[in-house]
Order: sequence, then C-alpha cells, then structure tokens
Amino acid sequence: MSEDEARGFARGLTNYGDKDFSLYLRNSFASSMGYSREVLKKPIVGIANSFSGFNNCHRHFPEMLEAVKRGVLLGGALPIEFPTISLGEVFLNPTSLKFRNLMSMDTEEMIRAQPMDAVVLMGGCDKTVPAQLMGAASANLPAIQIVAGPMMTSRYGEERLGACTDCRRFWGKYRAGEISGDAIGDIEGRLATTAGTCAVMGTASTMACIAETLGMSLPGTAAIPAVHADRLRAAEATGLAAARMIDKPIRPSDVITEKSVENALRILLALGGSTNAIIHLTAIAGRLGIPVSLRRLNQLSDETPVLVNLKPVGANYMEDFFFAGGVGAVLREIKPLLHLDCLTVTGDTLGDRLREDAGPVDHKVIASAEQPLEPEGGLVALFGNLAPGGAILKRSAADKGLFEKEGRAVVFESLADLAKRIDEPDLDVEEGDILVLQNAGPRSDSGMPEAGYLPIPKKLSAKGVKDMIRISDARMSGTAFGTIVLHVTPEAAIGGPLALVRTGDRIKLSVKNKTIELLVDDDELERRRSSFRSPSKPASERRGYDKIYAQEVLQADEGCDFAILQPVRT
Ligand code: FES
Ligand code: MG
Repeated sequence: MSEDEARGFARGLTNYGDKDFSLYLRNSFASSMGYSREVLKKPIVGIANSFSGFNNCHRHFPEMLEAVKRGVLLGGALPIEFPTISLGEVFLNPTSLKFRNLMSMDTEEMIRAQPMDAVVLMGGCDKTVPAQLMGAASANLPAIQIVAGPMMTSRYGEERLGACTDCRRFWGKYRAGEISGDAIGDIEGRLATTAGTCAVMGTASTMACIAETLGMSLPGTAAIPAVHADRLRAAEATGLAAARMIDKPIRPSDVITEKSVENALRILLALGGSTNAIIHLTAIAGRLGIPVSLRRLNQLSDETPVLVNLKPVGANYMEDFFFAGGVGAVLREIKPLLHLDCLTVTGDTLGDRLREDAGPVDHKVIASAEQPLEPEGGLVALFGNLAPGGAILKRSAADKGLFEKEGRAVVFESLADLAKRIDEPDLDVEEGDILVLQNAGPRSDSGMPEAGYLPIPKKLSAKGVKDMIRISDARMSGTAFGTIVLHVTPEAAIGGPLALVRTGDRIKLSVKNKTIELLVDDDELERRRSSFRSPSKPASERRGYDKIYAQEVLQADEGCDFAILQPVRT
C-alpha cells in the first residue's frame, strides 16, 4: 500500500489477514455514501460534533458545522462529522462532572477507531471542552478545538441579564422576599435567550480562554459570541487549519506541555476564572503526564494580576470581553509572565501570535497590568490539617472581610441533610459561623456537584447576611460568588479530615497564610477517625458506568479523572 493509500478511509484498516481485501471492503462501503474515487483518495478531517437536543448551548452547531466543513474542503481534505455524547450542563443528573470522563472516553476512542487524519473538536458547554481535550490528548492525533462561543445578554427593565450569575442574584433577592413570584417568572424567561454558553466568565468561558491560551484553538476565537458572523468565519478557519495540520502533523502532545499549561494557569488567574477550570486543566494535562501542582498555582497566583472585569467577579459580560479585545488583549498584558516559545495549532508559537498587531483594547473591561483590578490572581489553594491535599478559594469572588477568620463550624452531613435543615427557623447558626458540607466530593453518592455554594440559612439571609465562610468537598459553578472553600482534598466520603468535623468545632481560615485549619487536637481527631464509616454506597453494590466511576475516579487534586485513563508509565 502506498503512503497515500494509508490515509483517508484506508487509515487503520480492519485486519482480515488480507490487506487488499480490507481496503476493497472499506472503499466499497465508503462509496455507498456517494463519494467518488477522487474523494476517497483525500485525507480526512473528522469533526467531533457534540450537538444535542439536550444541550441548549450547542443549538447553533448545525450552522457552525457547515462552516467547519467548508474550511476543511478549502484545505483539500474531506470533512466527516461524527457524533459524540454531549453534556448540557443543567440537564444532567446527578451532576455533569460525572459524565465528563465518559465523554472523554467516547471522544478518544472514536478518534482512534475511525479513519481520520486530523480532528476538529466542536464543544462549548462547561464539561464538553475539557472532555474533548482530554480525549484528544490521549488519542494524540492532530486536533483543534472550536468552541460554541458565549450567549448574548438580555434585559429585564433597566437591568442587563446574562446566565447564570444573574440567575443567582435574582434568586437570592427572591429568597429574601425582595422581588415577587411574578417577577422571578419573567426573569426566568429572559436569562438565557440565544444559542451559546453562559454569558459570564463561568466554566465554559474560562475553558474556552484556556483552550486558546494552550494553543489548541485558533487565536482570537474563544470569546466571539455564538451568534456573531465572526464565529462562522472562525469555524471555517478552524476547518482549514485542521486540513493543514495533516501534512505537518501538530499533535496535542506538541501543544499541551508543561509550559503551555503554566500559561493556561496564568490566564485562569488573570481572568478571575472558574474554580472548576483547575480540575479540568489538571485532568487535561494529566492525560499527557503533566502534573498541575496547587503549590505552584499559589506561586503563580501571587504574581499574576486579575485583569478582566467580568461577572461573576466584576461587572461585564462575555460579549463586552470580545469587543474589548478578548484573550489576545489579556495575553499581551501578561506577556512578560508567559512562556512565549509554546507551539500552537497554527504552527506559530504564542510569541509569534503576540507580535501581531493587537487592535484597540477597552480598558474598562480588560485592565492594564499597570492598573490591575487586583494585584494577585483570582484563585488560591489552601492547605492545612483540614485539607492536606489542598482546597480552592476564589478570592476574587469572596468577601475580604472574611479572609482572616476563626469561627464555629455548623456541619451538614450530606446534601439531603443540608436541604432538610438549612432553612429551619431554629437552626443553631449565627452570623460568624462557618458552614461545612460533607460528602459531596467525587466519591460521594452525589458525585461532586456544584453544591459548594451553600445557601445562606434563611434566618440569617432575612437579617441581611449576604456571605459566610462555607467549606465543602463539592464544586461551585463558575458563575457563582462568595467566600467559599471548595474541593477539600481528601474528601469526606473516603475519610478525609473533612469527615471528622463536628458542629461546634472551631475552624480557622487564613487567606494570607493560605491555610485552613480544624482546631481540634490530634487525639480527638484520631478517636473520631477510628469510628469513621463511609456513607457512600460501595462499588460492589453498583453497576455499569456508576461502578466504573466509583472505582476509578481520582480526587480533585488529580482532576477527578479516572485512574485507568492515566498514561501508562513505562
Ligand atoms: Fe452551557 Fe452554562 S449551561 S455553558
Ligand atoms: Mg457552569
């Protein structure tokens, strides 16, 4: 077989012991799709399409797909779309994170099993981009990401609305009795009104910016609104770039390196981006054997300013970020902090990209490095006897008045316990207390949902309390805010120290020292540990994916990936 024949449909032939027969069979079935002999000789760009009727954020993918295909054809290759599972954030139970690894496996195996020479990854909603990058990194075929792009904002009276930070803000007002049931009904209909991902710097937007910074998507594409004509042009350019990656292959392992991962952490910090992104970036890097250390995160955080004034931390929305200059403008501001020799999917380095003319920047949305919004990064990792493996606090979204504080723990043993008691009028809780939620981590029955944003108990919110220190092994939506300590590792369900906290214990948070301490003496903790029983259903009582998940999922500091999906160490 000539080199040309080993491409396109001939790639990875099924082995019947007779190669020519295999090729003949493959071509005859491919011909049934109406391809001419000329077309069958072309290299193939696969397009992993995560369109789904259960994913509102991807509803414009049919139009984007056409543009990607156009670009692939322009580049002289044959575009072939294939479906993978999709993860529509708000429609998945118990939590979308549980299915991220499943989508990554689907993506990886279909890239590997089907004949293609390069792949375009079409994703957008929170877990889809990490899943696709994880899968593509493991398959390691030339790959390029195109994201859905953010939704446009909407309006309610004089207020601009964008999912989902405003969802939470108005829900808080409704809970506090400040707005009526009719008003919240009207707002419900106006929060999310176009195709695209959440309109703020939540997880989807953060991951889009990370994909661009890593060099896995084309420059300038992360922030283009979903419905903007530029998004279709970006899709076309992505298809063309994918076709060009075939002859001089650029693989995910060439692009995702220790240095580009560090650049990605920098942009995450400068964005004041989502806490979930730490988990996802750790999982993506982990597929290529690159560790992401939370102690390194803290070093980077101390020297990376917050520059982007977007909700939930600031005032603006993703469409403003796009018009203000997008990811490129932020990267230029932090250029001295970046590794510029990192290769990107275009074949240029990050440095090459940043040499090009920037265009105008709106500094109301993207601050300059000289006058940052905050001198230090948006995220910080905390360590201490309550979280030996680390915990995450989004300090840019937290109340600084609570940064150095000791308080009494009020413990909820599970999500069910929280739901049952949080609004009880006689709940034993005061304003200065610290709310603790146990058993909401990756191995818990709830699978680490975005439940770390514990509601303020009704009896306190009615008195005007807006924020309290809240600690859990859960995650938090990238669109949420508050003094919230997340991802406590190791988690309660496997007997981490979080499981040993009892109501009345004292807990001390110090953001300055980056510590979170349970002020209970070691003997007492040992006594409690000896009577620990995990409340999680054991793997032996589970089946199917649920069982694989329970057996394989790693802790948050390893990206909640599966142990079996880690690279084989030789
Ligand atoms: Fe898809 Fe928010 S629900 S990005
Ligand atoms: Mg989200």
